[in-house]
Amino acid sequence: MKANAITDSVFALHADIKTSTLFEGIWPIPHGVTLNSYVVKGEKTALIDLAKDWAGSIGQFEAQLASIGVSYDKIDYLILNHLEPDHTAFILELRKRNPKVEIISTAKGVAMVRNFFKITENLREVKTGDALDLGKGKVLEFFETPNIHWPETMMTFDRAEGILFSCDAFGSYGSLGDRVFDDEFSADEHAFYEKESLRYYANIVASFSAFVTKALEKLGSLPVKVIAPSHGIVWRKNPGVIVERYAKYAKYNTGGELEKEICIVWGSMYGYTKAGLDAVIAGIEAEKVPYTIHQIPDTDASFVLADAYKAAGLVLAMPTYEYKMFPPMAHILDLFERKHFTGKKVLRLGSWGWVGGAKKEYEEKIAGFKWTSVESVEWQGVPAKEDLTLLKERGRELAKLVKSN
Ligand code: FEO
Repeated sequence: MKANAITDSVFALHADIKTSTLFEGIWPIPHGVTLNSYVVKGEKTALIDLAKDWAGSIGQFEAQLASIGVSYDKIDYLILNHLEPDHTAFILELRKRNPKVEIISTAKGVAMVRNFFKITENLREVKTGDALDLGKGKVLEFFETPNIHWPETMMTFDRAEGILFSCDAFGSYGSLGDRVFDDEFSADEHAFYEKESLRYYANIVASFSAFVTKALEKLGSLPVKVIAPSHGIVWRKNPGVIVERYAKYAKYNTGGELEKEICIVWGSMYGYTKAGLDAVIAGIEAEKVPYTIHQIPDTDASFVLADAYKAAGLVLAMPTYEYKMFPPMAHILDLFERKHFTGKKVLRLGSWGWVGGAKKEYEEKIAGFKWTSVESVEWQGVPAKEDLTLLKERGRELAKLVKSN
């Protein structure tokens, strides 16, 4: 893979990560992910964000550095927009190869460099409004953007070129190959990356949506021509596309409009909850409301989160298990809570064996979720004909609510 020139003096490097290892140790990346870094050349040279040694990343990184005539000892500054180790873990090796490199981050970022990596020298704290002059007219400005996605986060801006180095913000899952710019991908490829950006957002960023909105307001006045994130596509033709996408995502769990669709999440031990769910689906289909459907635990929560995050409606179908919720659904609800899934219209249903219990635990769990619930339906064992009739009606009721959302 080659380094890609954004301008004569700014270069995008990226490592394509293709691995069965989970991102953050949690999230599957069947289509890979990229770790992006950027080199900015003035009289001095700055490297913006780094990588961790992962699935061949460092070999790719070094080859691309070499292709633009930069060796480790020629890097004067390492700018760390964010300290999460996917962008920093190689820092100890970099420091071994170049002990004089000055590391620049926010005060919280520098504290993390000290405490996390035990590096104590050649550190510089910056804050919003500070700038770094690389010479030859190349000046980098810094903007603190806390909690996108950790508290120490900042973005770096090359005002002369209009390039915003945004780290996790505006990022996506999905490896890229040799192309990195938005104008190099087809409409179908963009549709794929849009899905992967939503999944990335729902998995990693959604807990911090309020901060995303704040950052968008703060950065709104900057003359941005290029958005250069630390994961995924570099947006040089239509940066507004990814900005608008993130603005929309940030509203999904902060009171904004949700999509008029339903995400069905279901688990079933012996098929009786599934039999009831089929009646609900018939009701939803009768109202012609689009839906996605995920069986748990067969489908990883990462994919459930993506579809459930944007949907105005949820169907949660699970049996009682040991007097409580089917455990995989309890896990999903825990994730919904952590990521502040709010404002949903929801139908819960499920069968029980010798006694119920899911209803009680479920209602306690969602008490603070600010959801609107259609009256739930439960039954023992095989659903009776009248249960199925009622379930179909409840499916229709939910679908109508979603349509009127
Ligand atoms: Fe890509 Fe929050 O690190």
